[in-house]
Amino acid sequence: MTTTQTPSIAVIICSTRQPRVCPQIASFVTSTLQTLPSLTSTTATATLSTIDLATWNLPMFNEPTIPSQIKDPSAYAQPHTRAWSVEISKHQAFIFVLPQYNWGYPAVLKNALDYLFHEWAGKPAMVVSYGGHGGGKAAGQLKQVLQGLRMRVLDNMPALTFPGHDAVVAATKGEDIGIGEGVWDGERDGIRRAGEELLGLLAEAEAEVAVGSMSKKGAKGQ
Ligand SMILES: Cc1cc2nc3c(=O)[nH]c(=O)nc-3n(C[C@H](O)[C@H](O)[C@H](O)COP(=O)(O)O)c2cc1C
Repeated sequence: MTTTQTPSIAVIICSTRQPRVCPQIASFVTSTLQTLPSLTSTTATATLSTIDLATWNLPMFNEPTIPSQIKDPSAYAQPHTRAWSVEISKHQAFIFVLPQYNWGYPAVLKNALDYLFHEWAGKPAMVVSYGGHGGGKAAGQLKQVLQGLRMRVLDNMPALTFPGHDAVVAATKGEDIGIGEGVWDGERDGIRRAGEELLGLLAEAEAEVAVGSMSKKGAKGQ
């Protein structure tokens, strides 16, 4: 199906602990990207919205069928899977904002990914990790899984390093870690560059969808 509306990019908040720092960081990523003309001008090529995995509160994956075998979302057994499918289908690209937990990414994110397949496939993805050393190990593992879901994952993965041990302690308590007051000012350019690359991949993906839709229409007319 051709997208007639402006494509939507969803920023996914991938930590669900209480308390947590992830919403602060997702908001920093969003406000940084909102300085890109392609996302703010009247001729914006995409819009940004947020998905909070805590709000979704999905149970542990409990579908009887492998999601890659499901082409029609009405075939999902669970109502929460059908609702999650509708949500993910609304967006044409994703930005995953995630912490590193024990050298990996949060289990709640793997659970949310495993529920679906075709809803993710073919869509561009940007990964922004954070941690004491930037969370690069979590980002690398997530990239591999997203590629398994056939997503178009950016090689450019901004990694945000907490400015010292006190910041890790404050972040863990969900306290204000001073973003916008000096913390990560220098990281904004890297996030913007990755955002531009994501918009490039999104334009390519949308063009492919449009060509596919036109050739289907052409085939029907023959
Ligand atoms: C279970 C757990 C494991 C963690 N493992 C790591 C780690 O491997 N590397 C790291 O830099 N920080 C680690 N941390 C510290 C997190 O970077 C910090 O707690 C951060 O606030 C977590 O993000 P959140 O508040 O959004 O959940 C860990 C924190 C938790 C709760």
